[in-house]
Amino acid sequence: MVYSQAKVIAGGLAHIPIVIGLFYFIMTFFNKRAIDYAEANKPKKVEKKVVETKVQVKESSSVSSETKTEAPSKVENTSIDKKPMKKKHADVPVNIYRPKTPFEGTVTGNYSLLKEGAIGRVNHITFDLKESDPFLNYVEGQSIGIMPAGEDANGKPHKLRLYSIASTRHGDDFEGNTVSLCVRQLQYEKDGETINGVCSSYLCDIKPGDKVKITGPVGKEMLLPDEEDANIVMLATGTGIAPMRAYLRRMFEATEKEKNKWNFKGKAWLFMGAPKSANLLYEEDLQRYLENYPDNFKYTKAISREQQNTKGGRMYIQDRVLESANEIFNMIEDEKTHIYLCGLKGMEPGIDEAMTKAAEEKGLNWAELRPQLKKAGRWHVETY
Ligand code: FAD
Ligand code: A2P
Repeated sequence: MVYSQAKVIAGGLAHIPIVIGLFYFIMTFFNKRAIDYAEANKPKKVEKKVVETKVQVKESSSVSSETKTEAPSKVENTSIDKKPMKKKHADVPVNIYRPKTPFEGTVTGNYSLLKEGAIGRVNHITFDLKESDPFLNYVEGQSIGIMPAGEDANGKPHKLRLYSIASTRHGDDFEGNTVSLCVRQLQYEKDGETINGVCSSYLCDIKPGDKVKITGPVGKEMLLPDEEDANIVMLATGTGIAPMRAYLRRMFEATEKEKNKWNFKGKAWLFMGAPKSANLLYEEDLQRYLENYPDNFKYTKAISREQQNTKGGRMYIQDRVLESANEIFNMIEDEKTHIYLCGLKGMEPGIDEAMTKAAEEKGLNWAELRPQLKKAGRWHVETY
């Protein structure tokens, strides 16, 4: 008995090295897996070159606000809802520079976009990004933040303001080292006094050589789809043309096309709202695209203080949308069509109203369609 107990204990003890060995083997195996995983997922350094990032569409949380048209409790599936839902934009750069550590870009150009007799002040401003490290790269449809110099009334540094990027990722000179903005100086009257917006005045006044604090890029709401045969309907008021200018350069500007190798084959339709003809922005470029690409580009203007709508009021882009309701809805029924809205927040209810009427004419319900388009990543809004 005593002998057999001793034998069992001895036998058990003899297994200890085997158990320890097994335990060591398992630990080594999992450690190696963990190291491999960390290696594969460690953040990559942003290289200082323009990459033709493949951008895919998705719904995003954006700074824009959508008008609150009540979605119906039950949304029926229509052809619009057939496509697979949103995909990730993993490759799109965001927040390379944040407010605590902004990049100081150098102004290379700042000129007025307006003609004689225009209302207000709208400038095209370009910044050199060459010195940024990591490189401040971006894609069409994103925005950057600008931190105006000086302090607010409480002695605190001014907060940043966002501006839509008006250049393609290759920049206006196609060298891939710059970013351009289209900025309207905010001006309004208060108690008989003219108030100038802080950041927009700062930007309109800066001179080549000046240093400006830049953050970003941000935004994934206004990205272009990858597909070369996509249709792009653009609804812009005033400086809302900024991202559209970048899209149109990507589609139709000869040197840009050589660089980006994106052979756009779809239809691009720009609805542009401006108060006067002299306020139309980038007009010469747009006319050139019309001449060179008559089958791919359509351009419809609503010049509010020179043209009248059917009710005798100011002509707004929503009036133009109504005029072309049938054609627009034929395009929307094609799942390759994307709609982009940018500019005055105030235009959103008007556009919704026009789309509601236009949809009715086709026997469709806009309150049902819009959420579906949004969900399918085909309705893009950035208003301010
Ligand atoms: P501020 O000094 O900040 O003054 C603005 C404030 O003035 C308002 O908040 C309001 O309180 C007050 N105010 C304004 N109007 C009136 C009025 N009529 N009566 C009384 N009070 C008033 N702007 C562009 O020019 N181009 C762009 O491409 C562009 N893109 C944008 C993209 C995004 C995503 C967003 C969110 C905004 C964009 N903006 C753009 C707007 C821009 O960010 C600034 O809001 C704008 O330039 C005004 O900033 P400011 O510092 O000049 O004005
Ligand atoms: P208006 O100012 O004549 O009323 P800008 O930014 O250069 O001022 O251009 C904005 C354009 O958008 C102007 O033609 C302006 O017209 C127009 N606009 C103003 N309010 C709305 C609105 N609610 N819906 C659509 N367009 C608008």
